Amino acid sequence: MRKEGRYHVVDTDRADNYKYLTASVVPRPIAWVATNAPDGSANLAPYSFFTVASPEPPTVLFSIGAQALKRSGEEKDTYTNLKRDRRLTISQVERPTVEPMVGSAAEFIANTDEFLEVGLGQDRMMPGFPPIVAGSSGALFCEFLEFIAVGISYLALCEVKHYVFRDDIFDGRHVNYENVDVVARLGGPYYSALGDVLHLPRLEPDEVRSRYQRE
Ligand SMILES: Cc1cc2nc3c(=O)[nH]c(=O)nc-3n(C[C@H](O)[C@H](O)[C@H](O)COP(=O)(O)O)c2cc1C
Repeated sequence: MRKEGRYHVVDTDRADNYKYLTASVVPRPIAWVATNAPDGSANLAPYSFFTVASPEPPTVLFSIGAQALKRSGEEKDTYTNLKRDRRLTISQVERPTVEPMVGSAAEFIANTDEFLEVGLGQDRMMPGFPPIVAGSSGALFCEFLEFIAVGISYLALCEVKHYVFRDDIFDGRHVNYENVDVVARLGGPYYSALGDVLHLPRLEPDEVRSRYQRE
């Protein structure tokens, strides 16, 4: 690691890239992914390499890392389950559910129902789909499309079929961001809650120029 002026420079060929990427891309939203396990139970696990892939058709992606293997050498359950049953739900994580979310990341053996393990309720509101975390502020009901292999990771591309929002977040017309209390991941055991909501409409080029023009 070199020190240049006021910055530490880390070259990627010698770095712990996971550590520096997760410190660089912050905060990351957490996809709390539920899938249908072969025995009919629900599997739940958090994935923070998560974003929108395209608004049309509505598609999200999350990345299953480390060759999609648990430390035990078995496949991650989310990966195994999606190959078998393509339906999944992605619940939002809020301040009251952040601790059970961390609990749900423990590497349980296959067919363990993490909802039960961490004492969360299941809301099975759409037949055939796995449950969402009961009381979530919002969730996506998705169909898994394909895995795209990138390095040691598998990107799971998922088409969104239904959105659900809790009443206080979406009243049928407006999203009430003041009520959104989601938690994002920083790195390792560090998480971040939302701060102030800033309201900043987009500007036209002439508005930008008049606002930032130098005298
Ligand atoms: C907040 C958080 C975010 C995580 N994000 C990811 C991720 O993006 N990709 C990944 O492969 N594992 C991630 N993990 C680890 C998985 O949740 C963990 O390996 C889990 O046991 C996988 O569960 P499964 O076997 O039920 O799929 C994350 C863990 C936590 C606590």
